[in-house]
Order: sequence, then structure tokens, then C-alpha cells
Amino acid sequence: MLIPLLGKEEIEKIVKRLASEIERDFGDEEIVFICLLKGSFVFTSDLIRNIRNPCKVDFLRVSSYGDRMSSSGEIAISKDVEFDLKGKNVIVVEDIVDSGLTLSYVKDFLLKKEPKRLKICTLLDKRARRKVDLKCDYVGFSFEDGFVVGYGIDYAEKYRNLPGIYILKDEE
Ligand code: IMP
Ligand code: MG
Repeated sequence: MLIPLLGKEEIEKIVKRLASEIERDFGDEEIVFICLLKGSFVFTSDLIRNIRNPCKVDFLRVSSYGDRMSSSGEIAISKDVEFDLKGKNVIVVEDIVDSGLTLSYVKDFLLKKEPKRLKICTLLDKRARRKVDLKCDYVGFSFEDGFVVGYGIDYAEKYRNLPGIYILKDEE
């Protein structure tokens, strides 16, 4: 069962607000957006189209979830970025923060590449099961708990094509 959480218009508003926060913080400097695959590809594509700064986009793939509904706790980089990030303004774009383990791993991994600034932008912040203290610089929408799908976010690779975001209930 899919219970609506955010509709297309609400998402659009959130994305525009995040884009203007980013523009405000970076002036007219170049920004390298790092899209965390696969879940944030839709969000990243909307976000960058609302940003007027000179932009580059790169992709990082991290495996942490498998097909289950809770984190395995094991994190590995399965595809590294292709740009040299040294001295760059970097924003990591994530679909959803849950335990926070993935992003804190990614943050440490990317900091080793010596960017000028490293910021985190997440569309969704699921607060109930946070395990590490992680600071997100740009947060689209916070909610307590529940497994969400749509707008690029999957359950077992399904539902990424939905234009809105839904809470998935009773799926086995
Ligand atoms: P964390 O390491 O527990 O913060 O998990 C983050 C990753 O787990 C995200 O990048 C998502 O891919 C995935 N994830 C967390 N919550 C959900 C959800 O509700 N639906 C789909 N994927 C999720
Ligand atoms: Mg993800």
C-alpha cells in the first residue's frame, strides 16, 4: 500500500527552496554536485536545473541497503567519482538520511580528496533511527519514520518512476 507523503508540487517547492539556499551560500562560484547513486538521480537532476551557478555533476555509488528495508550497516564504495575534487566546492546530493551511516562514511571518504568546501544536501531526513551525529547543510523535508519510495527512491528497485513520494506499507 502506498500512502502519499509529498506530491509533485510540494517536491518542486522544496527543491526550489534548497536551490536558493545553495545559491545564497555559494555566490557565483562553481559547484560540483555529487549524486549518490541510485536513489538521488531524480532529485539531482531537478536540483541542478534550479541552480544558476556554474555546475559540474559527478556520481558516487555506495552500497549499504540491498533489497531489505533496514540498513545492513556494511558500506562500500562501488563507484568512485571521476573528477579531481581538490580545491572544489562540493555538494553531496542524497535522497534520504536514515541511520546516517552512509553519509558519514561518504563524507570521510570525500574529505580525503581535499575539497575547498564539502556540504551535504538531502531531500529527506528520517529522524527516528539516526545512529550517528551527522550535520546536513541543506534538508528538504524531515519526518519521523516509515519506509518511503518514489521520485528516484526504491524498494527492491521498484517505484523509482513515481513522480511523488509515498510511504510504503505492508510490502513483503
Ligand atoms: P543510512 O545509511 O541508514 O542513513 O541509509 C541511507 C540510505 O539508505 C539512503 O541512501 C537510501 O538509499 C536508503 N534508505 C534509507 N531509508 C530509506 C527509505 O525509507 N526508502 C528507501 N531507501 C531508504
Ligand atoms: Mg541512497
